[in-house]
Formats: sequence, C-alpha cells, structure tokens
Amino acid sequence: MSAAGPLLNAADLHVWIEGSHILQGVSFAVPDRGVTALLGRNGVGKTTTVKALLGLVPRTGRVDFGDVETTALPTHAIVTMGIGYVPEDRGVFSALTVAENLRLAERRPGKPRYELVHELFPELRERADQPAGTLSGGQQQMLAIGRALLNDNRLLIVDEPTKGLAPRIVGEVADAVARAAEQVPVLLVEQNLSLVRRVAERVVVLDAGRVIHTGPALALLDDPDRVRELLGVSRAAATTAGKATAPSSTGTTMTASTPDTTPASGATGTAGPDTPASEAEGRRTA
Ligand SMILES: Nc1ncnc2c1ncn2[C@@H]1O[C@H](COP(=O)(O)OP(=O)(O)O)[C@@H](O)[C@H]1O
Ligand SMILES: [Mg+2]
Repeated sequence: MSAAGPLLNAADLHVWIEGSHILQGVSFAVPDRGVTALLGRNGVGKTTTVKALLGLVPRTGRVDFGDVETTALPTHAIVTMGIGYVPEDRGVFSALTVAENLRLAERRPGKPRYELVHELFPELRERADQPAGTLSGGQQQMLAIGRALLNDNRLLIVDEPTKGLAPRIVGEVADAVARAAEQVPVLLVEQNLSLVRRVAERVVVLDAGRVIHTGPALALLDDPDRVRELLGVSRAAATTAGKATAPSSTGTTMTASTPDTTPASGATGTAGPDTPASEAEGRRTA
C-alpha cells in the first residue's frame, strides 16, 4: 500500500456462520474522504462484512486500517485506533437519557467532542435529560451518530441508519449522515438509494457474499438497468432521487423510497413504515 493508500482495505474476507459460507472473498477499499456506500439486497452479507472489519465475527483474509494490519487485533483495539461504529440496531439505551448515552460513549484517553456534537445536532443538547427511548427514530439515529462523533475517529461505519424508519424521517437521517461526513470519512451500509444518491461518492455492491461492483455512486445510480441488475430495483424506484415519500412500485427488498420492512433480528427490524421507531425500540432496555 502506498502512502496515499486507502484508509481501510479489506482483502479476501471469508466468514462462515453455522456451516454457511456467508462471505466468500470480499475485497474493497474505503478512501480517506467522503462517503462510501456498501449496497446489496437483504441478506447478502453487508452487516457481516462490517462485523468482519471490526473483528466481531471470526473471519479469514486481511484488514488494514491506515498503515496498520488489524486482522489479528481484538475489536476494542481496532475501535480505539479510530473507528466509530453505529450498528444496525443503533445501540442506543432507551432507559438512559440522551446525556447518559453520550457519556457512555466517551473513550479514554481523548477529549470528548461535545461542542462538535452539539453544534451538529443541537437537539441532543436540548433533549439532554430526555430518556433516549422517547426520542423519534430520526433523533435516535442522530444520537447514535453523535455517539460515534464524540470521539476523534478517523472513520465512521454506519449500518443501515434508515432501517425500520418511516419514509418521512429518511431526510432527517440523510442530513445527519451528511453532517457527520463533513467531519470524518464514512462507510455507509444503506438500502435507501435516495439517501445513497444524496451523500455517497462511491459504492461497493455485494451479492451472495461477494463484491460484484465498485465505482462512483452516480455512475451506478444513473444507470437504471445496471441498478436493477445489481440490486434488483425497478427502473422507477432507482430514478426517484430525493423523493423520500414516493410510493414504491416494486416488490423487491431494495427501493429508493421505502425502508426495509422485512422482519429481522435487529431491534428496529419489525417497525413498519408508519411505526414510530421509538415504539419499535422501546423494547430495548438498558
Ligand atoms: N448469527 C447468524 N446466524 C446465522 N446466520 C446468520 C447470522 N448472521 C448472519 N447470518 C446470515 O448471513 C447472511 C448475511 O447476513 P447479513 O450480513 O446480516 O446481511 P445483510 O446485512 O446484507 O442484510 C444472511 O443469509 C443471514 O441469514
Ligand atoms: Mg444488515
């Protein structure tokens, strides 16, 4: 890797879970700026890829962060090198206040960047004493991203921030991701193509545990046939950029306008498009 090499490099990652070969040689790079979106239909291995990067699942292959090989390091050592992780279920503690959730995220040594977080997300200051479970889904996502920005990270990994959220909240989440990306490079797992179009420069597309495409985001999103081929999205959905409330005309799992409503193991996975995320998340207790 050259001095100007990628911020993060994954090479030939394989993951087996309960005898299934989930990742089958995933390789991609995350550059040191902007948003790189990791795309793919439900169940293709996006979350598993993120967990493999962080050492949260056993894997083979190699991961480099900056000029350090992290493959053999434990997760806490990888994270303290400067990776903020916003998991699929957000990891917010419903029964704790906003301020307590932020305080829990403080990483030592280092000075927590409350000024930055409150400047980016003033609502978190205004609602500091409110239990996180009473926030809207969009506000909870802000809190989750705020937690990751509190520390001086070199990369944020955000896994499906719109999952289970109402379409009208997608714009709020896009704002939060865009603001975060002005501070730090982001690897964004996302199924909502209008959000991807808005924030991402580059895309990496997974299918069945392999990378099937990498390239500039718009080159893919502006090619509806290719989008359908790679992501199984209808022509109409793929071109509905920025219309977060447009109805979906597809039966596929990946659309430009509606969140994923397939029941899943995540805390928000069963929230339908009109279910306040706080209801779905109320089940999570601290
Ligand atoms: N803990 C697990 N036990 C069994 N199968 C799993 C587990 N985690 C993931 N899988 C399987 O691995 C595949 C990829 O899952 P995942 O990475 O969560 O996909 P994505 O995030 O792209 O929706 C799916 O088929 C899923 O069922
Ligand atoms: Mg996932």
